Amino acid sequence: MTDHQLPGALLAWLRGAAHIVVLTGAGVSQESGIPTFRDTLSGFWSRFDPMQLATPEAFDADPSLVWGWYEWRRSQVLGCQPIAAHRAIAELASHARKLTLVTQNVDGLHERAGSRDVLCLHGSLHRPYCRGCRSTYALPQEAPDPAPSGQPMRPPACPSCGDHIRPGVVWFGEMLPAETWAASEEAADACDLLLSIGTSSLVYPATALPEIAHRNGAKVVQINPEPTSLDPLADLNLRGTAARLLPRLLRAAWPS
Ligand code: OAD
Repeated sequence: MTDHQLPGALLAWLRGAAHIVVLTGAGVSQESGIPTFRDTLSGFWSRFDPMQLATPEAFDADPSLVWGWYEWRRSQVLGCQPIAAHRAIAELASHARKLTLVTQNVDGLHERAGSRDVLCLHGSLHRPYCRGCRSTYALPQEAPDPAPSGQPMRPPACPSCGDHIRPGVVWFGEMLPAETWAASEEAADACDLLLSIGTSSLVYPATALPEIAHRNGAKVVQINPEPTSLDPLADLNLRGTAARLLPRLLRAAWPS
């Protein structure tokens, strides 16, 4: 279905849902200017090797390379703004009877658009912690100066134990934060509508959430300009970008 048609059934699902889960991925922030991971030309993983940057072993092998790359990404994100997609999701929470927002994004843009209690499955670029004692570490809120452009940068030392401070994101081979995952699974289990927006649905276990919702009878709706592996399971596939479709969806469901 193209973004010119918004079916009445979808509007009824939105208005009637007792509990909506919104699951987002990198596509939601793409129009803010933040690259996705797997888009063929512009995605991070088409330009950088995740095995050198996004595993605990990579950090142990070359802490400065990894820290510099994540500081570059943090400075990029701090220079970007939330867009209509983030704002529409924040607004949806004010219309829905109950809404749980689960994101795979580490950029903090949902929070900056006004969403509260966001379940950040893959951590945050803004919440680094110590590799050794796991104490949290307060970063300056402003972008690193000068912007490091992905150059290696020595990570700060932990004030408590002296070990390296590491990026606060979940890497390949690591467990998701247990409480965040439990809350996400519980919400998927209990919801009657799940919106999967801007994710390739390739990374487990996030990709299990629509399956859990579907198994329990919830409607699953996907918003993505491209087909994904979720297409066959979804009750509805809306082809279009998040910033274009979400505000239209809100205006159609709750005309002011
Ligand atoms: P991907 O890069 O795998 O997928 C992004 C999806 O967004 C694709 O399906 C695109 O078609 C879609 N997309 C692109 N532009 C869009 C737009 N304007 N509106 C809506 N959709 C759009 O990103 P994720 O699915 O988020 O993990 O990737 C999941 C995880 O893999 C990430 O959290 C990251 C990565 O490795 C960690 O960093 C731990």
